[in-house]
Amino acid sequence: MRIVLLGPPGVGKGTQGRRLAAACGGALISTGEILREAVANATPLGLEARRQMESGRLVDDAVMIGLVRDRTLAADARDGFVLDGFPRTVPQAGALDAVLGERGQALDVVLYLWVDEEVLVRRLQGRRECPVCKRAYNTTAAAARDGIHCDDHPEVELQVRADDREEAVRQRFAEYRAKTAPLVDYYTAHGRLRPVSGSGSVDSVFEALRQEAGCDSPAPREA
Ligand code: AP5
Repeated sequence: MRIVLLGPPGVGKGTQGRRLAAACGGALISTGEILREAVANATPLGLEARRQMESGRLVDDAVMIGLVRDRTLAADARDGFVLDGFPRTVPQAGALDAVLGERGQALDVVLYLWVDEEVLVRRLQGRRECPVCKRAYNTTAAAARDGIHCDDHPEVELQVRADDREEAVRQRFAEYRAKTAPLVDYYTAHGRLRPVSGSGSVDSVFEALRQEAGCDSPAPREA
């Protein structure tokens, strides 16, 4: 299946994207993750993207479109993928349709996760991430067992993401409202949008997404 996960910052795209890719098959392609890795490794892409990301602004469309065009050609994505964080602008959505069309492919479904903004701001304040496996924890809703280290990498301390500072969070929501929210109308017009509430437990949100996507596999449970 070819799935897009759409929604505001902190709504659970990363958390659910990992599980959806496991349940529905195909590659998980997180553009935020690819960019953070590029920043950490100081590659040309990372050097270009760093300032925009840390201030909460979107990276240029041309850079992102080229990146996704190449990544969706990789062997693990040929028969399907879950896109987490792309597209994020109408030009990116148009480019994705064009790229897939050239390959005789199309998106199957766009899962639109939504939660009230003030709830999401609180979630982002509490987010902690494993720098090794990228699993997201939360100081309130989904804490690590000891609150400090990753459950799966007990020697690794959880970290706060650079763009979870208050000012960057405000900018990310402003970017979302101005540039990404219009994709709800775009995909509604194309008949592919399936809205799903991102409130409730991680398991219950996953189950609703899985059903909307029409994937048969049972929900994999986090340890
Ligand atoms: P990206 O990494 O995509 O950031 P984002 O969209 O702001 O989303 P987040 O990763 O912050 O949140 P999420 O929805 O994945 O939520 P999560 O599962 O972590 O992009 C980062 C930056 O890269 C962008 O700002 C931009 O600069 C650049 N970029 C990326 N793609 C781009 C593109 N296409 N074009 C241009 N620029 C691009 O969960 C959040 C927290 O909530 C966690 O603590 C989690 O444990 C918790 N949580 C999850 N589910 C629940 C639940 N059901 N109940 C309670 N808590 C929950």
